[in-house]
Amino acid sequence: MRAHPSIPAPDLVLVASDTFGTSLLDDVHRGLAGQRKTLPAKWFYDASGSELFEAICELPEYYVTRTEMAILSRHLDEIAATMPPGGTMIEPGSGAGVKTRLLLQASVPATYVAIDISRSMLELGAAQTARQFPSIRVVAIHADYTRLDRLPEAVDLGDAARTLYFPGSTIGNFTPEETRAFLGRVARWLGPTGSVLIGVDTKKDRAVLEAAYDDSEGVTARFNLNLLARLNAELDADFDLARFRHRARYDEALGRVEMHLESRVDQEVTVGQRRFTFRAGETIHTESSYKYAPAEFRALCAGAGYECSNTWTDAAGAFAIYRLVRSASATTITPHRTGDGT
Ligand code: AVI
Repeated sequence: MRAHPSIPAPDLVLVASDTFGTSLLDDVHRGLAGQRKTLPAKWFYDASGSELFEAICELPEYYVTRTEMAILSRHLDEIAATMPPGGTMIEPGSGAGVKTRLLLQASVPATYVAIDISRSMLELGAAQTARQFPSIRVVAIHADYTRLDRLPEAVDLGDAARTLYFPGSTIGNFTPEETRAFLGRVARWLGPTGSVLIGVDTKKDRAVLEAAYDDSEGVTARFNLNLLARLNAELDADFDLARFRHRARYDEALGRVEMHLESRVDQEVTVGQRRFTFRAGETIHTESSYKYAPAEFRALCAGAGYECSNTWTDAAGAFAIYRLVRSASATTITPHRTGDGT
């Protein structure tokens, strides 16, 4: 990481690369070989995909970002007061967004820990945060946070209270089982006194949900199709983007919006020496975005050993921010060990 002359360079802690798991090629081969074709949503976020996602957040139909921002702004003092001064804020996923900056400004933790799979996004975000908040120690961990069991030992966070900040309903891109597993893993990063601040989208009218994932300007369609452009660029695949169309549908029974790429024609595509056949109308499932009624989300968290101490929502209940703490029974089952580097 290049140091800025007038600001302290953030600590950059790199964890062992085994947290990165499967490669893009492995995931694509596995996902396209199955009976029902799928691709993991985490691969959306190359440079163009990240830019398109930023544009989605500004769309009139995509209420998620602005609603969460409004809740945070309205309850900022109360939310920041749940984070004890001198503590640590940990943010998985590329942080340094507007919401993060707002919360850092209001709570001023001693340490901010950013964790991201993209080293360039991580470095950029961490450097920006360090520049804007010179009194906060910024630690950047390059890792796939969905596979990180413990924070690396080099990250010495001491005993100060830790808060995990996970905004944007990113949790909705995990299945409920993955959510339980993730929250369980996070408990080891946080210790018994840690808490979680998490933004989660709620269930609502099909028309509102489907418009949010299939906007009139076609930005979400470009975001979805960009995945195929990425495979062409990085894996020398030969997807013809004009032969696929974006689809978004709310599955009410499963409580999730699904995004798919639908083949317009019968065709064959080559990815890294392997050929895959598509029938007209066949789809690749590229993303699920789960929506939770508050009671349902709190029950899911209870199953992972957390209780909800606070819920903040907008007047229409379109989005919710929850504060989760470890439930008493969970902390007696998994006591925090000192000196284990977490
Ligand atoms: C990042 N994630 C929470 C977004 C969502 O709403 O599931 C990604 C997204 N996909 C389409 N639009 C936005």
